[in-house]
Amino acid sequence: MSAKILSGTEIAKEIRAELQVEVAELKEKHGIVPGLVTILVGEDPASQSYVSAKNKTAHALGIHSEQVTLDVETSEEDLLALVTKYNKDDKINGILVQLPLPKHINEGKVLFAIDPAKDVDGFHPVNVGKMMLGEQCFLPCTPHGILEILKRSGVETSGAEVVVVGRSNIVGKPIANLMLQKREAGNATVTLCHTRTKNMDAHLKRADIIIAAVGVANMIKANQVKEGVVVIDVGVNRVGVSESGKAILAGDVDFEGVKEKAAAITPVPGGVGPMTITMLMKNTVQAARQAKGI
Ligand code: GUN
Repeated sequence: MSAKILSGTEIAKEIRAELQVEVAELKEKHGIVPGLVTILVGEDPASQSYVSAKNKTAHALGIHSEQVTLDVETSEEDLLALVTKYNKDDKINGILVQLPLPKHINEGKVLFAIDPAKDVDGFHPVNVGKMMLGEQCFLPCTPHGILEILKRSGVETSGAEVVVVGRSNIVGKPIANLMLQKREAGNATVTLCHTRTKNMDAHLKRADIIIAAVGVANMIKANQVKEGVVVIDVGVNRVGVSESGKAILAGDVDFEGVKEKAAAITPVPGGVGPMTITMLMKNTVQAARQAKGI
């Protein structure tokens, strides 16, 4: 069996078309243009490319976007002052500080400084707490994108054995929490595996759905998964550079091998990546609506 390819690119296109209509309507009927600011500290090439993709997408959808790039030596105090400035700026509905931040800056302190009403990343403790309780809030973009892929591809999650590999605050912890909730793409039995997990193979082997978010290229192999599994690969690992100078990417899952056994699988690139950016746009539009009480 060769797996159905769950194209994040195609699903993202669908959602972006919906958002484009929504943004045009907001402008026409209410005179509202949603606004997003991205803040990048330093020159990490991967972060630069993510941030520029976020701004490009915003622009294409008619969302006002501002991109601030700060020197790697920027002080925590100056970054906090910038966040405070955007908290008060009515043109800006969403503030995104690209992670990771340089070591001398306390990430938590910066994320906590963002107004929760503008926290389109869903990283502020107020939003994390609301998410955990199943309350209306900004969902973190990558887990939100995974839920949309599962939902729009008709993957049955209710009662499914879901194994999440990786316990990051950005992906592993939130997706595990969301998928066990009573919600669309939820109601699953969730196991969260990490570096100290004993007998990882036994967990992977009984999974109906695997969500891999570890950051190790091609780590999960065909002999570790069961026939008919659904695989969501969150990994974006740079494994080389093409002749034209572009980064060659690989997921956390050995795509070529696993696709022969899986029922469905997301590719890398073209899987979860485009969904993350799209859900950021969706959150920004949601923030603009909420700011005006619409
Ligand atoms: N770095 C990697 N993923 C993300 C993300 O979703 N948001 C932010 N702000 N930084 C990231």
